[in-house]
Amino acid sequence: MRDKITVIGSLNYDVILKIARLPEMGETFHADDVAFSAGGKGANQAVQAAKLGVPTYMIGCVGKDPNGEILISEAKKYGVNTERIRRVEEPTGMGVVNALQDGSVFAVIVKGANYAVTKEDIDHAEDLLKESAIVILQMEIPQEINMYAIDKAKEAGCKVLLNAAPAAEIPEAYLKKVDILVVNEVEAAFYLHSEVDTVEKAKENALKMSAELGNACIFTLGKEGSVVASAGEVTFIPSKKVDAVESTGAGDSFIGAVGYALIHGMNIVNACEFATGCSAITVCRYGAQPSMPTLEEVNTQSYL
Ligand code: RIB
Repeated sequence: MRDKITVIGSLNYDVILKIARLPEMGETFHADDVAFSAGGKGANQAVQAAKLGVPTYMIGCVGKDPNGEILISEAKKYGVNTERIRRVEEPTGMGVVNALQDGSVFAVIVKGANYAVTKEDIDHAEDLLKESAIVILQMEIPQEINMYAIDKAKEAGCKVLLNAAPAAEIPEAYLKKVDILVVNEVEAAFYLHSEVDTVEKAKENALKMSAELGNACIFTLGKEGSVVASAGEVTFIPSKKVDAVESTGAGDSFIGAVGYALIHGMNIVNACEFATGCSAITVCRYGAQPSMPTLEEVNTQSYL
């Protein structure tokens, strides 16, 4: 039975600024604190799956600079197989994350080396795809590579999870090819061309989207929780009530955990419940990858 997860996507060096409020236009503003952390949606999702014990492989690119070195060694430290991360001339991708006191984040990313991923990188991984149960993708590498990767992963018999973030136009045919589509409330609004600002709207729209695309659609709703729609049914999963300090990577923690749960035979709703517990731990600590829990931590958290 296949037990591997392959993540094809981004690696970013994150600078996390802890700020009391967002600056006004033209204003220079002091941050209260700064933290540096390994990030990038792809690497974060890979790290969460690996921390839970899944054999996890990462395909992506970093620069030949010190940040690239750091990102590879961090991913490796958490158990991700980094042999297919290519070093390129472009500078390593970067994330500048503004973290507010209530745990919400506003991020800007620099593409850098993430846009050097090629079709050849995917072709060279054909053997790995044939052994992978799940391929996880996001939208921080070139879209044509993502679409190529979706085709190759499906040909290889993998289940494909697309985290369509950051939101960008993508042919509907490709959204239909993926087995599981995950977006947050902001991205959902982009794809639906309408606000998703209540749980009821999220349920209604996730169900509609899932029926139209013929797959499972998960909308994560920040501190509210998430909704999962699949096979004509929709379920709201409330978040755990915790003292959040910073939510960078919470969605990625959720996705890596969904991957773990599906590989361990849970259905999609149970997988999202398990993932909700994981991301609840992630938001209680700073940074994306360092804050993600191991399986032992998930199992010993009494509030989960
Ligand atoms: O999802 C959080 C991640 O988004 C950050 O680590 C940042 O690098 C961006 O990719």
